[in-house]
Amino acid sequence: MRILITGATGLVGSEITRLCHEKGISVNYLTTSKSKLEKSETFKGFYWNPGEGKIDEGCLEGVGAIINLAGANVFQPWTSSAKKKILDSRIDSLQLLHRLLKEHTHEVRQLVSASAIGIYPSSPTKMYEEDEQEVAGNFLGEVTRKWEAAADEIKETGIFVSKVRIGIVLAADGGALPQIIKPVKFNLGAALGSGQQWQSWIHISDLARIFLFLIQQGLEGVYNGVAPNPKTNEDLTREVALALDKKLWLPKVPGFALKLAMGDKSNIVLGSQLVSSKKIEDKGFDFHYVNLRKAIRDIMHKKTGN
Ligand SMILES: NC(=O)c1ccc[n+]([C@@H]2O[C@H](COP(=O)([O-])OP(=O)(O)OC[C@H]3O[C@@H](n4cnc5c(N)ncnc54)[C@H](OP(=O)(O)O)[C@@H]3O)[C@@H](O)[C@H]2O)c1
Repeated sequence: MRILITGATGLVGSEITRLCHEKGISVNYLTTSKSKLEKSETFKGFYWNPGEGKIDEGCLEGVGAIINLAGANVFQPWTSSAKKKILDSRIDSLQLLHRLLKEHTHEVRQLVSASAIGIYPSSPTKMYEEDEQEVAGNFLGEVTRKWEAAADEIKETGIFVSKVRIGIVLAADGGALPQIIKPVKFNLGAALGSGQQWQSWIHISDLARIFLFLIQQGLEGVYNGVAPNPKTNEDLTREVALALDKKLWLPKVPGFALKLAMGDKSNIVLGSQLVSSKKIEDKGFDFHYVNLRKAIRDIMHKKTGN
């Protein structure tokens, strides 16, 4: 079995690749960066440029499933050109894959495409399941809605499509955790806004396992990529402080100051999404990291090697 991964060189893609190799699955990957091209039998790189409609069609050789993660980083400052890049990179990538699958013979049966829990409107109390119809009325809502719609269009080629609404990924080398750790280490850790906003986190290794689970079980449709035990921003920050043997003694960072400093991007840290993992658990997925403390300690242990 061979899987084609777009965005394989990023945070989530690297973990999925590691897991594929552990399970004896070979990976083809599409990269926008020629310097990242490798050509080993189990990790074969192919160049593409979604904005210019360029793709190496050899990427489909021997491939049974595609995992799509590609997209410009959403954590960059949201200037109008960055917003355009964040949206266009995701839509162009899927449209190019769509065209490739339509125009070439292949054996691909399934596409598993990334999405994000930012599709759900911010709410302090509502528990979101995958059948929620309301979409957040902000930039992240617009991006995720159009991203999922572009993935769904690929069904027209006869391939079945699954989407993973990714939560706050906890990992050693990127994502939210290093950003929370940095100030806490210098005794400058503080909850953001009210601190009561829900943060539906997931350990990166469970997230990678969800992508492969959907392929191995042949499951289509939308699945939330979050752990069963969401926490508030204050609890998440406090757990990090505990793991580092530090205390949170500073006042919370006021929401208005974050809005002033970050503009609409403050939705990423101030938005509250309490998201359910029930659907994937009902399909038999078994989380290794249900408990936040265990997840944080595992990641910190891997980082420091202690
Ligand atoms: N990490 C999170 O907390 C989180 C949460 C929710 C959703 N997600 C989504 O899940 C996906 C994977 O996340 P990640 O954290 O692994 O992201 P990442 O580390 O930023 O990796 C994304 C990859 O996309 C490719 N890429 C960058 N700009 C591109 C462009 N303009 N056109 C096409 N490809 C481009 C890059 O690969 P090459 O350089 O090899 O082309 C990059 O390695 C992303 O789309 C992200 O939005 C992540």
